[in-house]
Amino acid sequence: MFPSIARSLLFISLVAAQTVTYQAESATLTGVTVGTSVAGFTGTGYVEGFDTEGDSITFAINSTKSQLYDLHVIYNGPYGDKYTNVVLNNLAGSQVFLPATTAWTTVSAGQVLLNAGSNTIQIQNNWGWYLIDAITLAPSAERAPHNVTTTPINPNANAPAKSLLKYLGSVYGKNILSGQQDPASLEWVTQNVGKTPAILGVDMMDYTESRMAYGARSTDVEKALEFAKRGGIITFVWHWGAPTGLYDTAEQPWYSGFYTRATDFNIETALADTTNANYTLLIKDIDTIAVQLLKLQDAGVPVLWRPLHEAEGAWFWWGAKGPEPAKKLWDILYERLTNHHGLNNLIWVWNSVNADWYPGNDKVDLVSADTYAQGDHGPISATYNNLLALADDTKIIAAAEVGSVPDPAQLQAYQADWVYFCVWTGEYIDGGSWNSLDFLKETYNSEYVLTLDEIQGWAD
Ligand SMILES: *[C@@H]1O[C@H](CO)[C@@H](O)[C@H](O)[C@H]1NC(C)=O
Ligand SMILES: *[C@@H]1O[C@H](CO)[C@@H](O)[C@H](O)[C@H]1NC(C)=O
Ligand SMILES: *[C@@H]1O[C@H](CO)[C@@H](O)[C@H](O)[C@H]1NC(C)=O
Repeated sequence: MFPSIARSLLFISLVAAQTVTYQAESATLTGVTVGTSVAGFTGTGYVEGFDTEGDSITFAINSTKSQLYDLHVIYNGPYGDKYTNVVLNNLAGSQVFLPATTAWTTVSAGQVLLNAGSNTIQIQNNWGWYLIDAITLAPSAERAPHNVTTTPINPNANAPAKSLLKYLGSVYGKNILSGQQDPASLEWVTQNVGKTPAILGVDMMDYTESRMAYGARSTDVEKALEFAKRGGIITFVWHWGAPTGLYDTAEQPWYSGFYTRATDFNIETALADTTNANYTLLIKDIDTIAVQLLKLQDAGVPVLWRPLHEAEGAWFWWGAKGPEPAKKLWDILYERLTNHHGLNNLIWVWNSVNADWYPGNDKVDLVSADTYAQGDHGPISATYNNLLALADDTKIIAAAEVGSVPDPAQLQAYQADWVYFCVWTGEYIDGGSWNSLDFLKETYNSEYVLTLDEIQGWAD
């Protein structure tokens, strides 16, 4: 025992010795100023005044060789939760969450792959309204092998669901599956990029009564069945329109009814009591989409099932009252769909990163995040590392929605092992500003990226 403890202490001190701190007040400042009034900073001050797009700190960093480093930011957050952008060499960027705090706090900003020679790391305004003391860099330790489970949480998971999770496990860390939300956008990829994504993303949105009453109709289940016949993998999200309480005004039309701002539906009171009329309406909606999911089960099609997505963002009503009601609704969904309706073809994909929102390792099959950074093809490594920590590396990790596709070379260099990406619809894939056609062609032809033709027979 003792010698190994001594060795690990020695190891820690060696790593610590390799940590280098770069003071914000000594960097190049754009639109921001040096402050000293909030005590406890390191160096001779900190940087404040992030309040305008374009405000930034640029650190000049030299590295003796090309190497991956762990990057941390020392900050203070007296104005609430904020996001900053951290951009390496004007290329790869990551959105970094700075939780509210009135103490000087160190937060991980993921990893950066420094070039041999000179580099820049820029902290960009994004939400603004935070104080930056310094950044630190330390060479990254080699990533330990993943320890993910490929057994579904549902003990009665059917053979297709089991195969799908097992298949994702075989891909994880070796390749990334390409994915595209919406059948029309997927067809656009086929026509223009010359390859077909491995995963089709579809939506349960237009199957429930509060939307069908206004004329909404969907054929997403039929489209999913067709794509599954072609050997593809299906993921369903659910933009769940509040079952009642839609404002349906010019500003907040009925079709925005999944947004918190478009309804006064209160998830907390609805779930407080199972005899509440609104609880009953929620169950009715779940029963309605169960009918659709059963069609997929009957056809032998497993589903990467991602309800209650982006809950932590609070912009959807299921996240509007904080983590507890959202987690409660997750349990209700699981219980109703699995045990009441006998849906055993679902792989449960959780889609919030914050630990307070996490239902637990026994309640999710995959963890995932949605990230949008226009034109930024970075590896989203800070978010990836947060998801690794969230489930203690026991769950496969997916980029369930992206705007710009991460660059395969960077994914590999950063060991950001997202098992799939799924690009959002319309302009995100075909508009040219989130992803250029050249970039898409290069990416889809990368050996690292798996496409429909390359995954045929995955279920065997
Ligand atoms: C980085 O290296 C360049 C030469 O490559 C040198 O001019 C500069 O002073 C170095 N900067 C730091 C911060 O060490
Ligand atoms: C791997 O994960 C399992 C849970 O799935 C856990 O019990 C075990 O301790 C983990 N092993 C390591 C080396 O982390
Ligand atoms: C159900 O939700 C609607 C819309 O928010 C609300 O007006 C109504 O009071 C709720 N009913 C109950 C019994 O809480």
